Amino acid sequence: MNTPDSFFVGEIRRDDLPALFAARGPDTHKGSFGTVGVVGGGRGMEGAALLAARAALKTGAGKVLVGFAQDAAPLPCDPLQPELMLRDARSLLDTDWGVTAWVAGCGIGAGPSAANALSELFVLRHGAPLVLDADGLNLLANGGIRPNWGDGPVVLTPHPAEAGRLLGLDTSHIQADRPAAAQALARRFGAWVVLKGAATLVCAPDGTWRRNTSGNPGLATAGTGDVLAGMLGSLLAQRLPLEQAVAGAVWLHGAAADALVARGIGPIGLTAGELADAARGLRNGG
Ligand code: APR
Ligand code: MG
Repeated sequence: MNTPDSFFVGEIRRDDLPALFAARGPDTHKGSFGTVGVVGGGRGMEGAALLAARAALKTGAGKVLVGFAQDAAPLPCDPLQPELMLRDARSLLDTDWGVTAWVAGCGIGAGPSAANALSELFVLRHGAPLVLDADGLNLLANGGIRPNWGDGPVVLTPHPAEAGRLLGLDTSHIQADRPAAAQALARRFGAWVVLKGAATLVCAPDGTWRRNTSGNPGLATAGTGDVLAGMLGSLLAQRLPLEQAVAGAVWLHGAAADALVARGIGPIGLTAGELADAARGLRNGG
């Protein structure tokens, strides 16, 4: 019988992720490492988009743009990360910035303008990988958007409650059989699924799944999911092989938390923004 267990293809460990640690060639430039477009950050949730964008930059994307789900960008630049280009969602979507991976949903809100921006993005991404997180998943669950996301890989990143909303099940039901829930989502949406929580699962659209081995309760703090979404978009934009990018971001995110805890920065009081710095250190061999 094809139980979820028969689709288990192994744990996610550092040694399985060579692409994460591949040296950069000398003859490279920012275009070699892709452009991430973050669409999120509605009023009062700007930090979610900024956390994702900063994490994308610090895990190696060549360029990162943010399109805030507001009439105008709420600030001209990020004082802590002026390398980011901040726009409103309209101008991010209306211009061809050469985005090589999209991160959508972090703090985007659940209103009609968020739904419109996401639906538009699905059409114009033209095969570029898409990470859909947070309110993007809630809109999918309540019918605000439809999974008409066209060609190209899609990665859904639900926490257990979001997975429950997508499947119409209680969170307790999701947690009782996490592999089955991840598989059901992957198959229903034809997408990669990152089912978050302790021992995050990564499930491919064909139902094969892995269990992550890194991470700790220091991650149980606001914004760490936004950082993971940014890391996923970053590795996808950098054109790591798809499986390495998805599993690699999940492992790196957890390993960054482990590295911080080893230095006494957490688990108590670890903050989401610190993960990106720790992840950068790990990618550089630290
Ligand atoms: N052990 C290991 N990892 C953990 C643990 C734990 N005990 N607790 C949390 N994590 C990890 C999860 O696996 C995930 O990668 O921390 C991250 C938490 O992500 P989210 O639950 O999405 O949290 P957050 O970033 O605060 O979400 C921001 O998005 O999903 C919505 O409702 C959410 O509005 C909120 C926003
Ligand atoms: Mg979240």
